[in-house]
Amino acid sequence: MAVTTFVSFVSFCKKFLRDSAGKLRKLRRFSSIAVQMETPIRILGIAGSLRRGSYNRAALRAATELAPPGATVETFELDGIPPFNQDEEQNPPAKVTELKRRIREANAILFVTPEYNWSVSGVLKNAIDWASRPHGDSAWNGKPAAIMGASTGAIGTARAQNHLRQVLMYLNMFPINQPEVLISRAMDRFDQEGKLTDAPTREHIIRLLQNLVDWARRIGPK
Ligand code: FNR
Repeated sequence: MAVTTFVSFVSFCKKFLRDSAGKLRKLRRFSSIAVQMETPIRILGIAGSLRRGSYNRAALRAATELAPPGATVETFELDGIPPFNQDEEQNPPAKVTELKRRIREANAILFVTPEYNWSVSGVLKNAIDWASRPHGDSAWNGKPAAIMGASTGAIGTARAQNHLRQVLMYLNMFPINQPEVLISRAMDRFDQEGKLTDAPTREHIIRLLQNLVDWARRIGPK
């Protein structure tokens, strides 16, 4: 009799533990979904071309429409930022102060870079340099990032993106690696109004943004 009671007690305990573990798992899943729903991710998109008909600006416009649920892609236009001069870094132009504020407010950065002579455009590098100064006050520090780019060439800014990654490493930024969004032969992928019409490229951008959002949530607020 005592043995039977003991066996029943043990199976009761086992069932109790199993049920509790199941409930805990459900609770954890629910709370993680709740946290994700509560924390909108703000992505700041920066395109490195000033050209009116720029494919990179057009790609960034597409990204603003393709942001996943729970995230937004805002843009910052680089027009009007003067060439960097270290004499001015303690008292930067208003547009640079605004850029640094927008970077700091964002949870993640999306760089959309052209390829000029196998590297990023001077316009983009100039903006990166301004926002990294003065020493110890870089707005980029610790930010999650993603990179994409459009060129009229055959390998869609691969070399420029590679250079940009090197710069981001020094800035202590954390770019995601996949997918690579290399928009080659851009003239075939946008219509006359600058709308991105190429379906596979749109899919790539959606995946890039989703990965960036997941990454930004994983490495925490900045
Ligand atoms: C280019 N372009 C170019 N394309 C490329 O694939 N690899 C390169 O190294 C270069 N180099 C380059 C240098 C300079 C100074 C210019 C102006 C252009 C062509 C470039 O991909 C094309 O002009 C894009 O349209 C530029 O991007 P936006 O302005 O359309 O965004």
